[in-house]
Amino acid sequence: DIMKVGIDLIHFATSDYFLGMDTFAQEKGIDVNKYYVGIGQEKMSIAPPDEDIVSLAAKAVEPILQQIDRAQITAVMFATETGIDQSKSAGVFLHKLLNLPSRCRMIELKHACYAGAAGLQMATALVKVNPQEKILVIAADIAKYDQDSSGEATQGCGAVAMLITQNPRILEIEPGSGYFTDDVMDFWRPNHRNTALVDGKYSTKVYLSSLKHTWEHFTEQTGRVFEDIDYFCYHIPFTKMADKAHQTLLKKVNSQLDKAQADAKTLPSQIYNRIIGNSYSASLFVGFISLLDNVKDRLDNKRISFFSYGSGCVAEFFTGVIQPGYQTVLMSESHRQQIAQRTELDYPTYIDFYYKTDYAQSDLALPQLNKGRFRFCGIEQDKRLYT
Ligand code: CAA
Repeated sequence: DIMKVGIDLIHFATSDYFLGMDTFAQEKGIDVNKYYVGIGQEKMSIAPPDEDIVSLAAKAVEPILQQIDRAQITAVMFATETGIDQSKSAGVFLHKLLNLPSRCRMIELKHACYAGAAGLQMATALVKVNPQEKILVIAADIAKYDQDSSGEATQGCGAVAMLITQNPRILEIEPGSGYFTDDVMDFWRPNHRNTALVDGKYSTKVYLSSLKHTWEHFTEQTGRVFEDIDYFCYHIPFTKMADKAHQTLLKKVNSQLDKAQADAKTLPSQIYNRIIGNSYSASLFVGFISLLDNVKDRLDNKRISFFSYGSGCVAEFFTGVIQPGYQTVLMSESHRQQIAQRTELDYPTYIDFYYKTDYAQSDLALPQLNKGRFRFCGIEQDKRLYT
């Protein structure tokens, strides 16, 4: 099997607003270092009421479509746990907004934060069978927890779009991976709720034990060892969690690396997440983009590992190899600009956004706060409207 398949283009989007963890800490009367140091978060992207997973996804995909013939897209796999409809897939709304071809398949994938990785694996397999296919894998989520719950400090939002093709220009996905499923209640969102329920401490334990299980399966499947991997990307619900994951793996393999050497293999993947927050299914790939945009040395032919964790739980560990010349197709400037151009929210406005985003129940003509080209306008007769 000599045909390479993987990520040809990748781009992310986040919202136009953020809440600083300093503002959050002050309001809650908590030492800000709990967030800066203990959890490892400085800011979280907050979606205004007229931003949802569809508008975020459109913002993520658009620059990719400007570089290819959109009529060639054969499928869209849309991973999310912020579902906007119990039946219709979010990708179909996107299909219209982005003028995608009618000869194109659309499917929504769900398993908590894991579905983006599932989509990437499935798209890769489909292109291996039908090399002419060009598939968009999108992961988009808005992380929202109850006010004053432990999870409130780990909100955020974002979308990542990846174009999966043969002879990819950024990353070849390698065959063989380790995967793991167990029925646990660490984090879930019943159909009647638009915030997640979480058993926070327990979720961090299940995350780490899942990492160990997938690592064992991965090494059995591929024969690879820790030293074969140059950089490590983990699912990042908050950056300290990725740190803990890396420490757990170092310990499991009895790594002799000193702290600086070990950190260098994973810290570049945490830079964006630290100021965006959790974006659930997108978060692992925001981490990958952070690595691509922030490692100054050339990454040509470097092997990158990916650990995806979806509470509930399903996890997977797999690798890919960076393709020479990848730097010429990165959209780093767009990522940096989006992050830098966000407007800071004061606490009352954050609360206002928080409650106005409970739009699901009522018809609303939403105020225009989303500054992007794509916007969720509100609901009329139970039908969602976008421009
Ligand atoms: N200075 C420095 N550090 C401080 C501090 C201070 N002033 N105050 C507290 N800390 C440290 C604590 O010692 C602690 O460190 P350790 O984890 O190393 O022990 C850390 O800050 C966090 O403090 P607490 O444990 O007291 O925090 P908490 O209980 O309020 O919340 C949490 C932590 C449970 C992770 C919570 O943020 C949460 O529920 N988050 C949502 C769930 C989540 O993200 N789980 C991750 C795994 S599941 C997953 O990955 C899927 C997903 O996306 C949700």
